[in-house]
Amino acid sequence: MNRLARVDLRTDWTEARLLNVAAGLLAAATVLAILARPIDLPQQPLRVTFVVSGTAAVWLLIWRLLPATNRPRVVSVLLFVGFLLLSALLVWCNPLFGFFVWTGYLFTVYTLPGWWQVVGAAGVASVTAASQAGGYRTLESTGGLWLYGFLFLVNAGISSAMTRLETVKDRNAVRRNEIIDELAEANAKLEEALKENAGLHAQLLVQAHEAGVLDERQRMAGEIHDVLAQGLTGIVTQLEAAETGTAERERHLAAAKRLARESLTEARRSVQALRPQHLDEAGLPDALGEVVQSWSGLHGVRADLITTGPTRRLLPEIEMTLLRTAQEALANVARHARAGRVGLTLSYMEDMVTLDVRDDGAGFDPDRPREVTASGGFGLSAMRERLSRIAGTLGVESEPGGGTALSACVPAIGIGGAP
Ligand SMILES: Nc1ncnc2c1ncn2[C@@H]1O[C@H](COP(=O)(O)OP(=O)(O)OP(=O)(O)O)[C@@H](O)[C@H]1O
Ligand SMILES: [Mg+2]
Repeated sequence: MNRLARVDLRTDWTEARLLNVAAGLLAAATVLAILARPIDLPQQPLRVTFVVSGTAAVWLLIWRLLPATNRPRVVSVLLFVGFLLLSALLVWCNPLFGFFVWTGYLFTVYTLPGWWQVVGAAGVASVTAASQAGGYRTLESTGGLWLYGFLFLVNAGISSAMTRLETVKDRNAVRRNEIIDELAEANAKLEEALKENAGLHAQLLVQAHEAGVLDERQRMAGEIHDVLAQGLTGIVTQLEAAETGTAERERHLAAAKRLARESLTEARRSVQALRPQHLDEAGLPDALGEVVQSWSGLHGVRADLITTGPTRRLLPEIEMTLLRTAQEALANVARHARAGRVGLTLSYMEDMVTLDVRDDGAGFDPDRPREVTASGGFGLSAMRERLSRIAGTLGVESEPGGGTALSACVPAIGIGGAP
């Protein structure tokens, strides 16, 4: 229910109650007037009294039939003026009607708008003063006039104070209702926002889950490529060499076996999402040194590693990414470059670490990368993908016949978070 409707209903209800009270007092005062006949009071004949009192009763009835809601102000004022005139007539009939007149104060507060309340209260005070002074006969003498004036002022003073108090109370009630409505509105908005939030939260969870699945899928794809595919390629190469039946046969078979064992170990570690074995045992420069040396021994190609800058332990994810980058770069040299020499440089700088891998082999056109197929073409993009996951980048410089240079750059986040 909105504020206006509530205030209107309240006004209707209050006014109806007041009219009931007024009607009751009118009846009581009429009975009193009949009973007080023998007393010496300035009173009119009974039939005159009945006519006036009956008219007042009808007036109250009409008033009752015009509820305050939607009633124009002017009608309210007219109803009150009629009430006041009838009150004055009733007091003229018998001062004991003062009991009834008193209800006029209440009507001033609940029926009259704004400043009309002051005028109304003064009107009621003038009639009340007459009834208290024992009727209008008092006004005939100077002393009576003084008494009337005094009574009027007292009544007017009390009624103004009461009217003021009621008005303030009423205004507070309206304000309270307004605040309650505002609160209800704010609550409704809050509820709506919470519902919306819950929806967003659910959506976020779904997205986070999907992102997690995608991330893990990419990681596994990278691991399978770097660990299994590379290992198997190496094994196939060694077995093919052994098949040629030369004196080197035993050496190739032993290399194939070693590769198979290493690949198996690495594959197990990948499944368990552990770091490569080399890194577990040593820091990145040493692990890289081992990988380079073993690669060189296996392929018979000279490979050198240079480390520059202050070496330090980096976040495991960063070290692992650099190691995998070097492994894939070397695997590519072995498969595609037919190089005579490979140089790797690992440089530790203040806030970044770079790894460069250069070979003097066949080279290729980096602007025309081979398509990803079942037989390969995944290596460079997987490398890029891995690096971007740790905010790193990959640069490829190469041209057919001019060798190849790869450059990976990653943030130097040390263990503990500080660069
Ligand atoms: N060092 C290099 N020397 C010459 N060509 C290279 C070198 N590195 C990459 N390439 C070329 O770039 C292509 C893409 O390499 P990438 O590693 O993405 O795939 P791949 O090695 O062919 O297959 P995969 O790595 O998926 O087994 C290679 O096929 C090769 O033609
Ligand atoms: Mg490759």
